[in-house]
Amino acid sequence: MCCGPVAQHGWSVRLITERSRVQISPGPSILGGVRSCFSLNLWLPISEKAFKSVILSYELLLEADEEKNALNIDTSKGVTVDGLLKVYGEIKALDRVSFRVEENEIFGLLGPNGAGKTTLIEILCGLKNFDDGKITVFGYDLVKEAYLVRSLIGFCSQETLLYDLLSVYENLAFSASLYSLSRKKFKERVKFFSKHLRLGEFMHRKAEELSGGMKRRANLAMSIIHDPPLIILDEPTVGFDPNVKREFWDLIRSLKDDGKTVIIATHDMYEADELCDRVAIMDKGRIVALDKPSVLKRKIGGEAKLIVNVKKGTEDALKLLKSYKHFREENEIEIFVKNPWVEMPKISSILTSHKVLIEKIEVAEPTLEDVFVKLTGRRLEENFK
Ligand SMILES: Nc1ncnc2c1ncn2[C@@H]1O[C@H](COP(=O)(O)OP(=O)(O)O)[C@@H](O)[C@H]1O
Ligand SMILES: [Mg+2]
Repeated sequence: MCCGPVAQHGWSVRLITERSRVQISPGPSILGGVRSCFSLNLWLPISEKAFKSVILSYELLLEADEEKNALNIDTSKGVTVDGLLKVYGEIKALDRVSFRVEENEIFGLLGPNGAGKTTLIEILCGLKNFDDGKITVFGYDLVKEAYLVRSLIGFCSQETLLYDLLSVYENLAFSASLYSLSRKKFKERVKFFSKHLRLGEFMHRKAEELSGGMKRRANLAMSIIHDPPLIILDEPTVGFDPNVKREFWDLIRSLKDDGKTVIIATHDMYEADELCDRVAIMDKGRIVALDKPSVLKRKIGGEAKLIVNVKKGTEDALKLLKSYKHFREENEIEIFVKNPWVEMPKISSILTSHKVLIEKIEVAEPTLEDVFVKLTGRRLEENFK
């Protein structure tokens, strides 16, 4: 098997997890050292032993010339997206989207299902073409310098793409070989992941033995094995419990501390609020607001919120509160007001005088969800139920 040279000559090599087959395919690979120009899938039946030896032979091929791979990238130019248009038939998945991501910031794309986040991310990664607009990554044109730009990006998709049979180390070695990493650089990266992604004790465990959270970490490591200055993540913590989410956010922060620029798509307002330096709120292919989370909440969600839990008479309460900007979720009514401490006794007295039974009434700080509701009249999460 001459997989290393194959990879260098324009093929991505994918090992499948079903123990006995190797798939060689060009795929829409975004791997920096890999160009895809043909369309052919080749399935080779092999034994588990051979499967392993393929991986080990990859490691032997990690001898690329470090100097040749060294690039002098001026990350201060950031990432710019200008008038990006992507149309699917009647649907404008991206409707002239423009923004700039500064170097070393964590930039969030926050929006509900169908907002256009994945489309935007896949275009940025060179996985999808677009109909109009211009994108530059650290000064390089995404289309004209496609090959170079791809090597500057580490993309971690929503799915976990690990080879179950292989240990984390072997998975990383495989990924490293596709990027033609030198042995020295590979060892450095393994050390970095052991420390910063806390993968050390799992390095020699088979991927299939890892928990969901550990798999995501290993997957992240694989996608940034080549130490790219730009890391792009599509909904990386969907389905995680809050603790695992927080841990993952810490890892992303440590990548920022390491000087990286991060773009992350999410529909989780807490994730955007906690993690991102700036957030672009997206809806129906457009950016409807863009700023620091604190500024967005102050400027757009700026009014405070009264939350009324109704024990009896929710429908009556809604009629009585008609003149207020409000949002209902079952027996909870959120009311947007300028001065909550003045409005709270007023609202309480209107409701009780009409025999609405209040269980609880409280004042809450506005959230990014409120910003979204105010801008679109809909909730971020409603499409996910
Ligand atoms: N391959 C496709 N063909 C047709 N429509 C698509 C395709 N991919 C995405 N879309 C549409 O583009 C819009 C944006 O989708 P997507 O980028 O996946 O949003 P998000 O990631 O924010 O959920 C949606 O209306 C979706 O249905
Ligand atoms: Mg998506």
